[in-house]
Amino acid sequence: MKLFDLSSYLSRKRDSIEAALKAWVDPTAHENHRLAEAMAYSLMAGGKRMRPVLCIAAAESVGGGEKDALPGACAVEMIHTYSLIHDDLPAMDDDTLRRGKPTCHVAFDEATAVLAGDALLTLAFEVLATYGLSRGDRPGKTLEVIRILSHAAGPSGMVRGQMEDMAAQGASCHLNQLRHMHALKTGALIVASVEIGAILGGGSEDRIHKLKHYAHELGLAFQIIDDVLNVEGDPRIMGKATGTDSFKKKSTYPALMGVEASKALAKACIDSALHALKDFDTKAEPLRAIAAYVLERKR
Ligand code: IPE
Ligand code: IPE
Ligand code: MG
Ligand code: MG
Repeated sequence: MKLFDLSSYLSRKRDSIEAALKAWVDPTAHENHRLAEAMAYSLMAGGKRMRPVLCIAAAESVGGGEKDALPGACAVEMIHTYSLIHDDLPAMDDDTLRRGKPTCHVAFDEATAVLAGDALLTLAFEVLATYGLSRGDRPGKTLEVIRILSHAAGPSGMVRGQMEDMAAQGASCHLNQLRHMHALKTGALIVASVEIGAILGGGSEDRIHKLKHYAHELGLAFQIIDDVLNVEGDPRIMGKATGTDSFKKKSTYPALMGVEASKALAKACIDSALHALKDFDTKAEPLRAIAAYVLERKR
């Protein structure tokens, strides 16, 4: 049997995602150039596009198409990019390198970075509503997608996780607390990306339930590996600084249990993610391949 070629899949999906994103943040079409430039600077800086690819792959796994999921894909990447811009601010992680370039507040200024983040967050919901209306999607479907995304990104999801991350800095943190914090700050948006894709792709309740389980485990592994890469990754490949977590006394898996045990835990999460897909056919191959990639990734 021919092995699934993830790198060509990722490259095709990334091209579609980049083109769709670019159309929303074209600085020349914008009245406030500086704001639009800052938004485009961070959004088009070449992230891995994991969340939007997951959104599309989830839609495809239930028989939907790329076009169905593209608005959801754009929205999750806009929210993710906003979260990175704010995460890097001096008031939070105070980082100066992101996606291989100076962070937004370094390239522009702090106020512009705050506002570019705010603007991307808000634009995400405009994208969902605009596509929903223009395609004549059932209003209930668009509303459900908006509910899921706002819940995952807001005070019960990512923002809460970021708040807990800040509070845990320099403090001792139990494994359970760490797992919970990771599930919120990183996992929630990854689960939402997959769930939204599955809804836009027309998946049944049972399929969506299984895909959410996959995404929950994948999200945990993703953040554990992010923490591991902060210890032993190559900043030139990753496009962001390493060693910063221990410097800032962040609560991370490697800090709590060591690098090797962290990798073993990430592997167990990925095994569980793959198990959740056991009833899916070959249309879920991209999701399976992405799970393996999360463990091996170097950036
Ligand atoms: C980085 O996310 C922040 C985390 C939530 C771990 P990614 O590793 O997906 O960053 P980009 O989008 O590729 O820059
Ligand atoms: C970022 O987490 C999570 C969000 C932005 C929601 P980290 O602070 O651990 O990620 P990096 O290492 O800066 O990308
Ligand atoms: Mg952080
Ligand atoms: Mg950070």
